[in-house]
Amino acid sequence: MEHFLTIKYTIFNNFDELPESAKNLMKEAIKARENAYAAYSGFKVGAAVLLKNGEICIGSNQENAAYPSGLCAERVAVYQASARFPEETIEAIALTGTAKEPTQHPVSPCGACRQSLSEYEIRQKQPISIYFMGASGKIIKTESIKDLLPFLFDGSLL
Ligand code: THU
Repeated sequence: MEHFLTIKYTIFNNFDELPESAKNLMKEAIKARENAYAAYSGFKVGAAVLLKNGEICIGSNQENAAYPSGLCAERVAVYQASARFPEETIEAIALTGTAKEPTQHPVSPCGACRQSLSEYEIRQKQPISIYFMGASGKIIKTESIKDLLPFLFDGSLL
């Protein structure tokens, strides 16, 4: 028997359409993007994680001559958040990525980052809002990692 899934997402046509708190978070992600170490791909990504206590933890992609040793911006940010504030709820993450030529298309989190984010959403039993964009242009928002990663692998199976 066939089944169909529906995912929910919101499109904002530009930065100005974002709600105030998301604007602030996206600004932090843009600032973080400037400090990306993207020596090999030239693709710079910035991320900012908003915690319930108001703290913002940022991250940018960190590349390495041994390519798989590098890490994406989202995981740098979310691991920092969990290391510094292990008991805090993660409310949202904003993400922006661009090639040298400004990317106008929303840059969505890679599969490994989706899996990492799912760990924290399941652990805290509260959904994480995810906002993502290119250098500018449209921003996509999902209200849960479950909309980006259906059938996610969940530790309860272990
Ligand atoms: N990258 C991220 O930082 N986040 C993603 O979700 C996608 C990819 C980085 C990894 C690498 O440094 C560069 O972008 C090109 O893949």
